[in-house]
Amino acid sequence: MVASAAEPESHPALPRHVAVIMDGNGRWARRRALPRQAGHRAGIKPVRMTVEQCARRGVETLTLFAFSSENWRRPREEVSGLMSLFLDALEREIAELDGNGIRVRFIGDLDKLGTPLRHAVRAAELRTRANTRMTLVVAVAYGGRWDILQAARNLAADAAAGRVDPADIDEKLFANSLATAGLPSVDLLIRTGGEKRISNFLLWDIAYSEVCFSDLLWPDFDEAELTVAFDFYAKRQRRFGRTGEQIEAVRC
Ligand code: IPE
Ligand code: IPE
Ligand code: MG
Repeated sequence: MVASAAEPESHPALPRHVAVIMDGNGRWARRRALPRQAGHRAGIKPVRMTVEQCARRGVETLTLFAFSSENWRRPREEVSGLMSLFLDALEREIAELDGNGIRVRFIGDLDKLGTPLRHAVRAAELRTRANTRMTLVVAVAYGGRWDILQAARNLAADAAAGRVDPADIDEKLFANSLATAGLPSVDLLIRTGGEKRISNFLLWDIAYSEVCFSDLLWPDFDEAELTVAFDFYAKRQRRFGRTGEQIEAVRC
């Protein structure tokens, strides 16, 4: 038996962990001859809808990719526009998120954020830490490779200091060293904007995700399209390396 203890044996129709690559804001704006920032601003509405719908449907964890470790390469004005938008949106939404029982957690190289945003992130995490209805994970300055590297570096330091025996490094210990420690593996990964790639989002955590690509640009992503993704997920047979017959036998 080599199955990871983290993989569920059965396949409930509802994903426990949904992750979203919210792509297409720039194209949405360009099509309207608007500045890219207008597209980012228009991306707030589908964020609200997705959070609300996932909480309502009973999703345990929702992870949103807001800014990648590679997005620092964008023009300086776009990066600062995005950072201001994150700060404004967080300050505006935090009371409602808290009121709705949402726990907020941020993952990424947060030291790279400006001081006001870093403080707002910390305050939001502290304020909502006892909430249990759903965990909203926001990936900012996040890269899947960055996460794997920082986990490896921390484990190597622990091993060098004699705190960890290298022979004890297994999937569980490694997963607990990632920024996503304690979160379930991603069941359903959604990417909007038509591109069929991962763009250095969660890597370790999407090993067995079902992947749903939407051609809608993120500002146009709505409840109907989210429902399409949930329906797609409910129809998948998750085999985790086994045969379809084995899965059917377990179900009977
Ligand atoms: C996603 O939309 C938002 C971020 C990456 C921050 P984009 O800004 O990448 O939009 P497109 O892909 O250029 O349309
Ligand atoms: C992925 O979108 C990052 C986020 C949605 C935050 P990008 O627009 O940065 O991805 P690429 O560059 O097209 O792969
Ligand atoms: Mg893009």
